[in-house]
Formats: sequence, structure tokens, C-alpha cells
Amino acid sequence: MPVTVELTGVRFGYGAEPILDGVDLDLSAGEFAVLAGANGSGKSTLLKLCVGLLRPADGSVTVLGGSPLDPAIRRRIGYAPQGLRMATSLPVSVTEVVAAGLTPSKGLLRRMDRRDWSKVNAALESVGLGDLSAECLFELSGGQQQRAILARALVADPDILLLDEPTTGIDQRLRPALAQELRRRADAGATVVAVSHDPDDFHQECDRILVIEDGRVRQITHEEFHTHLALGGGGSR
Ligand SMILES: Nc1ncnc2c1ncn2[C@@H]1O[C@H](COP(=O)(O)OP(=O)(O)O)[C@@H](O)[C@H]1O
Ligand SMILES: [Mg+2]
Repeated sequence: MPVTVELTGVRFGYGAEPILDGVDLDLSAGEFAVLAGANGSGKSTLLKLCVGLLRPADGSVTVLGGSPLDPAIRRRIGYAPQGLRMATSLPVSVTEVVAAGLTPSKGLLRRMDRRDWSKVNAALESVGLGDLSAECLFELSGGQQQRAILARALVADPDILLLDEPTTGIDQRLRPALAQELRRRADAGATVVAVSHDPDDFHQECDRILVIEDGRVRQITHEEFHTHLALGGGGSR
């Protein structure tokens, strides 16, 4: 399978102190990776570099053969940021939030057609929000809002899915369906990266577990993931 995300010698820091310091990472089409690492280790930073929200101080980030700063590349990336909370005074419906995920590929002024709406409905169904599509986003629980943000990342059928702590606030009973949906996306050829501290979230569905330690990314086994957590390597926000 072709390499879709390639980081080579990536260094990045917000100040003088490097957060990422020599990250080498290859991900391929069809791969589902979990990204773990202690609180503050740089997981969100790594995803932001992959989506072009940050630029490396050194090294290179190549996504789908180009730069994530290129709009043609970026629109093929579905990104769900961590712990997003909507402005509570904006009366925006769940459907509208998800439909906004189609804007980068459609263009702002093009009308939604029947096919677009069926994509929106399919994305809502895939996160179990079909019944709440007409609700105002801010009237939903945190977990339901999180699912709407996920549907927004999924709706354009992106080649790369970067999900920052997608299970936060989501009921335990809904997590297996999310894991299966991400597996299905990877099987259909997408590259999926999900940040998670919980080995149970994607244990059976993922292909690889990556951990950030001392500014670098390395791959660990499922067993190591459990040990890593037992030693305090996980941690929540
Ligand atoms: N915008 C920012 N400005 C300055 N420091 C930041 C910023 N965002 C994150 N950091 C710091 O960078 C480190 C890595 O952050 P982050 O990538 O969010 O870690 P993680 O997602 O693994 O918890 C943390 O020490 C955090 O405080
Ligand atoms: Mg984070």
C-alpha cells in the first residue's frame, strides 16, 4: 500500500524547548494507528503538523505526496480536534455542523445536492446521531457534540482521518461502533490515526500502536501499551 503520511526528522517546539525532536514516521493507505503518549508529550501537536496547522522547525511532513499546506491536499484530510466546544450562542444545528465538513471539497457557494445530504445523513448515522440531526448543537451533551465533530470529519470520505481523542465523553457502549467504523474506513483505503489513552478503545481494530516518548515516535505492542499505562505513561488531560 502506498505511503500516505511521511514525517522525516521532524522537530517542533512552541518555544525554545522542543516538543517533537526527530520524529520519523510512515503511515500507509489502509492503516489504522492508535497514537498514545503521556499528557503533554505532543500528540495533538503531531496531528496539527500533519494537517498543516503547524509547520516543522526542521524536517519534513508529506501527506498524500504533497504538503498539507496545499488546499488540494488538505481537503482530503478529515480532522477532529481535541475537546472542541462550539460557541454556545450560535444556533447551529447538528446537520449544519456536519454539512460544513463538505465545504472544503465543494466550495463555499455551491449548493448542497441530494447526494451531499445523503452523505451527511450517512455520517450522522455512523456516529449514532441520526435522531438528533435537527437539534441545536449546544443543546447536546458533550459526548453527543463530540460525535457531531466526528461526523463532520468523516462526511467528505477523506483519505486521511486524524482524530484527536475521539472517544472523550463518548459512552462506553458506543465505542465499539466507532472503532468498527474507523476499521471500515481503513479497509476501504483510508489512513486512520486516533489519539487514545485507553487500550480498550481500538485494541482489536487497530493495526499499529504508536507512542510519543522523549519527542520521538515509536511503535509498541499491545502488551507494551498496557505496561506503558501501568507505568503512568498514559494520563488524561
Ligand atoms: N499553543 C501552544 N503554545 C505553547 N505551548 C503549547 C501550545 N500547545 C501545546 N503546548 C505545549 O506543548 C506540549 C505538547 O502539547 P500537546 O501536543 O497538546 O500534547 P498532548 O496532546 O500529547 O497532550 C505541552 O507541554 C503543551 O503544554
Ligand atoms: Mg492532546
